[in-house]
Amino acid sequence: MKTKYKELLEEARKARKKAYSPYSKLKVGAAVLTDKGNIYTGVNAENASFGLTNCAERTAIYNALSCGEKKFKAVAVFSDKPGIAPCGACRQVIYEFGSDIDVIFRKNSKNYTVKKISELLPDAFRFGRKKR
Ligand code: THU
Repeated sequence: MKTKYKELLEEARKARKKAYSPYSKLKVGAAVLTDKGNIYTGVNAENASFGLTNCAERTAIYNALSCGEKKFKAVAVFSDKPGIAPCGACRQVIYEFGSDIDVIFRKNSKNYTVKKISELLPDAFRFGRKKR
């Protein structure tokens, strides 16, 4: 795996410690790599009204957007529990910023998977825009 992606995963791993997950107790961290080489992190934020929970990936993307960045190369997700791949909602949000974005997540305790978002979300919904 690319050195930059290892660094991205490490940022996601560190970020997960700040997760707000009193209900599931699952701490998830995510990190987004921008075209400029900047990294923005996010954590899952749960709510007593469970459906309001925001996943780590979306938090990271919204963090980057809030800092004026919207060109993304990769998104990494890390949880202590291996095998956490982005949920469907997060896949749709990642796809919004480009079909070519790499998504990195833990396959098992030792290995990582790197897949294009277009592979994780084939035939994604687009709102009258050309494929990006
Ligand atoms: N979660 C994420 O943060 N990212 C994912 O890709 C899957 C699920 C969070 C949401 C919730 O806080 C907890 O994991 C259990 O669903």
